[in-house]
Amino acid sequence: MRIDIITLFPNLIKSPFESSILKRAIAMGKAEVHFHDLRNYATNKNKQVDDYPFGGGAGMVMMIEPIDRCIMMLKKNRNYDSIIYLTPDGDQLNQMKINTFSTLKNIIMLCGHYKGVDQRVRDHLITDEISIGDFVLSGGELAATILCDSIIRLIPGVIGDESSALSDSFQDDLLAPPIYTRPSNYKGWKVPDVLLSGNASMISNWREEESFKHTQERRPDLLK
Ligand code: ADE
Repeated sequence: MRIDIITLFPNLIKSPFESSILKRAIAMGKAEVHFHDLRNYATNKNKQVDDYPFGGGAGMVMMIEPIDRCIMMLKKNRNYDSIIYLTPDGDQLNQMKINTFSTLKNIIMLCGHYKGVDQRVRDHLITDEISIGDFVLSGGELAATILCDSIIRLIPGVIGDESSALSDSFQDDLLAPPIYTRPSNYKGWKVPDVLLSGNASMISNWREEESFKHTQERRPDLLK
């Protein structure tokens, strides 16, 4: 999978790709992530990428021209399956959308700033608009990082234990059951006996029940 991220702040977003699973996925060649500084696509000497909104009002608007030039350059070299704009008024991200994105080959992510982008970008250049939640970040970079992380970890071979990603919370509309590791008794706080029993079917049943209980308590909306 190849992801091209268009941003005004490439330095803000690079470091998460230099550690842990994202780093490994890139080193293994499972994912390629490229950063494009939008200022390099500005057309005037001042490298201007934003301007005042027509009709007045507070805040600046990201101009269409640098964004269009950057996307056109990328599209010249390959076809893109999805061109995503990260925005708080986009479709809310969930595990099902992430699963779908993880099957794609080439993705562009556009990070917004200031008041957002000229509406014509959204109308003519973008194929998907994604929000990571009902709150406002200062830009789309952190949202794009979250989206990349959630997608890349699902690419086959990226996580060592293939079954691990499938047992995540939300994969089957259930939250994950509690997990424990050594020591089995810490300050008198004990691990449930069933997990030490060695009985695989009892353990599996226990996990299913706990998942269900946990979901009922915390996210009953998922069970509907
Ligand atoms: N940009 C600013 N806030 C955002 C959010 N909640 N989701 C996606 N992009 C954003």
